[in-house]
Amino acid sequence: MNYAVVDAIRLEANAKLDPLKKGALGQFMTPYRIAEFMAGLFENRAHAVLLDAGAGIGSLTLAASKVLQLDRVEAWEVDPVMQSYLEKSLEKIGVPHELHRMDFILDSVDRIQFNQGVRFTHAILNPPYKKITSTSNHRKACSSVGLETVNLYTAFLGLSILQMRQGGEIVVIIPRSFCNGPYYKPFRELMLGQCAIDVLHIFESRSKAFKDDEVLQENLILKLTKGKPQGRVLLSFSHDASFADMRRREVEFRSIVEPSDTERFIRIPTEDAPEELSLFEHSLQELGLEVSTGPAVDFRLRTWWSKLPEKGTVPMIYPHHFGKDGFHYPVEHKKPNALMHSPEVEKWLMPCGVYVLVKRFSAKEEIRRVVAYLITSEMVTAPHVAFDNKWNVFHYKKQGINKEVAQGLACFLNSTVLDSYFRVFSGHTQVNATDLRNIKYPSLVKLREWGKQYRPAMTQEEIDQLVTAA
Ligand SMILES: C[S@@+](CC[C@H](N)C(=O)[O-])C[C@H]1O[C@@H](n2cnc3c(N)ncnc32)[C@H](O)[C@@H]1O
Repeated sequence: MNYAVVDAIRLEANAKLDPLKKGALGQFMTPYRIAEFMAGLFENRAHAVLLDAGAGIGSLTLAASKVLQLDRVEAWEVDPVMQSYLEKSLEKIGVPHELHRMDFILDSVDRIQFNQGVRFTHAILNPPYKKITSTSNHRKACSSVGLETVNLYTAFLGLSILQMRQGGEIVVIIPRSFCNGPYYKPFRELMLGQCAIDVLHIFESRSKAFKDDEVLQENLILKLTKGKPQGRVLLSFSHDASFADMRRREVEFRSIVEPSDTERFIRIPTEDAPEELSLFEHSLQELGLEVSTGPAVDFRLRTWWSKLPEKGTVPMIYPHHFGKDGFHYPVEHKKPNALMHSPEVEKWLMPCGVYVLVKRFSAKEEIRRVVAYLITSEMVTAPHVAFDNKWNVFHYKKQGINKEVAQGLACFLNSTVLDSYFRVFSGHTQVNATDLRNIKYPSLVKLREWGKQYRPAMTQEEIDQLVTAA
């Protein structure tokens, strides 16, 4: 079968799926060109016992059957529409196979607990993506075999890893969200502890990999080998599923996972990631600075909301106080401009001073991920200030920062070079304090130097010139 035939079957099946179940079951099927690319990453090709979990219509197994010498295939699929197509695909391949018409997570956990798990030499996966809550059966089942995770896709990949033989190869297409963020840390530890990353393929444009389903996540393809010592990683990049403009380069593993990083963040390089990293030398701690999420959670403080600043209130600063043309305070808005100064409010306040604020949620239309603002005591004339929870706040021991340093830091955070560097870490539009804590910064001397010249009204070009000038 060529890719056009398999893709036609995929689209036919896609049209028959229950739209209400589609999201819950994460039913976004792999275009056949991607399936072929993935299958082509397998190295050892003889005597394969293949696992395909959440197999859909079986596109991935079909593609794998073209390159592997298969001894047996086991596929899991819960959806009856998919199962009927999958059955046909497995028959067409013509090797011994088992179609498990059941939940992969619950079935795998049973097998692992009864020591019947480890049997696969190869796995090819496009698992479903959906958050799993802490009370769900899936979450509890995973915990019972030591897999702590928050999404179906990491549960599928984690359980697949646990069921591979030593030397077993896994090729998987997944979103990038597991690469950073504290909730995925146990999963990263499991994956990096048991497997080597051999290949990392990065799709550079949103949505193109799954354009029929308009999936917005940024996807990547990983090839892992269980129990293999970690060597250099082959990176490849393409704009879309045609792989027409593919570029490759090899990098040291330490440029993907920094040896000293206890979070085990997986840094996804961009093709044009800055080679010259001399601007990124110091940890925030070395600079004596800290960054925290804005402490004031407005809905918990609703009783003390004050529409306007008045006697006995403290300013409450939100991202909407900063517009394209600068800082406006107070503003007409459904949120308050201030909080009544009470003992309950007191503990969430910071003394007035110079702070650098970075939005936690950058708007899609914003060109940069990191958008930083300066707030000074001239802008809010009050002894204390409340920073809303939608900010990340850079501070010095919970107080304001030296003005020149703060200005230099805002300048650096708003530069294009920082933006490219940051994208290496983060595939989503959210900017967490942990992300900002984990990146490296220029020296205090450089920050002060820029701080002397930085003005918030500077254009992007002016900021970039300042930061990249020798
Ligand atoms: C992202 S789709 C990928 C399908 C196929 N692997 C492909 O690449 O085209 C995920 C598939 O997993 C199935 N699925 C969702 N939850 C499942 C579960 N708990 N156990 C087994 N299959 C599941 C869905 O019905 C869907 O077909």
